[in-house]
Amino acid sequence: MKAMYVEEALRPESNLGVMNFLNEIAERYPKAISFASGRPAEDFFSLEQWLSSVPHFVEHYAFRNQLSRRASWNKISQYGQTKGIIADLIANQLAADEDIHCDEERIIVTAGCQEAMDLCVGAVCRNPNDTILAIDPSYIGITGAAARHGVRINPVRRDGDLLANIAEAYSFAEAGGERPRLLYLVPTFDNPTGTDMSNDERTGLLHFAIEKKILILEDNPYGMIRFDGERLPSLYEQDNDGCVIYCGTFSKTLCPALRVGFMLLPNKIFGSHADATSFGAVLLEAKSFVTVNTSQICQAVVGGVLLAENGSLKRLITPAVELYRHKRDRMLQSLCDHFSDNRQDVKWNVPSGGFFLVVTLPFAFSMEDAEICAREYNVLVMPVASFSLTQRLDTRVRLSFSYATQEVIEQGVYRFSRFVHDRLLQRSASV
Ligand SMILES: Cc1ncc(COP(=O)(O)O)c(C=O)c1O
Repeated sequence: MKAMYVEEALRPESNLGVMNFLNEIAERYPKAISFASGRPAEDFFSLEQWLSSVPHFVEHYAFRNQLSRRASWNKISQYGQTKGIIADLIANQLAADEDIHCDEERIIVTAGCQEAMDLCVGAVCRNPNDTILAIDPSYIGITGAAARHGVRINPVRRDGDLLANIAEAYSFAEAGGERPRLLYLVPTFDNPTGTDMSNDERTGLLHFAIEKKILILEDNPYGMIRFDGERLPSLYEQDNDGCVIYCGTFSKTLCPALRVGFMLLPNKIFGSHADATSFGAVLLEAKSFVTVNTSQICQAVVGGVLLAENGSLKRLITPAVELYRHKRDRMLQSLCDHFSDNRQDVKWNVPSGGFFLVVTLPFAFSMEDAEICAREYNVLVMPVASFSLTQRLDTRVRLSFSYATQEVIEQGVYRFSRFVHDRLLQRSASV
């Protein structure tokens, strides 16, 4: 029974059409309320102001590189270093905001987290039997990166004992002649479920990876969007052996159009400085053929904002985090109000941060159901099944509260509740 779960793993490309399908539904039903996308709220986008901080960065860059101001502008307008030009400022921000103290030389600035994930998969999984371990369900970005590189994902069951589940997934892969090389994790406010992994799980996974010599790819786009509960240390902070690659992004704290993210590499890989150096070189070589370098103009915007904010984004994002907290609360309240008759059957989690929560229904919710919600109830939602690494049916639905306004959230939850009520009525009529 257990092995069946891991046997059901999809080939990586098989759920990728889902994103297109959902974009298509959004286009076909433009009036539908969308809880489907993980877009940040636009209320605090401040691009005009952020652009005006670019000269601040140009001064900083001129000073650091002993250039004239003119030469600094010109250098930023040129092709640039593949590893990027704002690693010093990112390192300061990580120390101020995430308690991560690192060597700026270990940072590669990327075109969002997505490029970091893609480069990492390509650099780590180089042999035909190399695979990725990922918790099921997982963010679609890793599924896409794996598919692009023709790498299989070994799914790790989330329910029950996570550490036993990962050991099981690993053994199963090994028995099939595969060699898991990379463990992809979003420990803090995961997409799609919003889960904040416990400290025991974090340390347990770290120990497992060290024992098996698997690199961890720790993806943390939502860590700063915390509403309540205590911040738990990242895996990178806890890693003394050199097995964690940390990815961050400015997509959720500033805006996604910047396409600026980064990866932070360990100083040594499983104790070896030489391996860490050659791994960095492999990544840079790959990046140099994919994007040459991350747009220096976009880096200058991020750099300018970081300088203007004295190195930390906490002050800048506080109002946005407050807004997301209100939106989460509005969604939770609306769920209580509109599912008051079905509290035994319909359940949901209460995420302490991030953009998503998950509603669990008493029936499986498929892509066809998502289409029905859009067509007949004017609300767009994401089946958790669409993030699944297996072919299992799933009764869960991901609702994103980040983008819709609070009034719209109320209305959208009402519409979704009508779909659920009608489906439950149909079910009881047919028995
Ligand atoms: C878990 C996770 N990782 C990575 C990304 C991609 O981030 P970026 O815009 O930096 O490529 C997202 C975006 O939604 C995400 O949810």
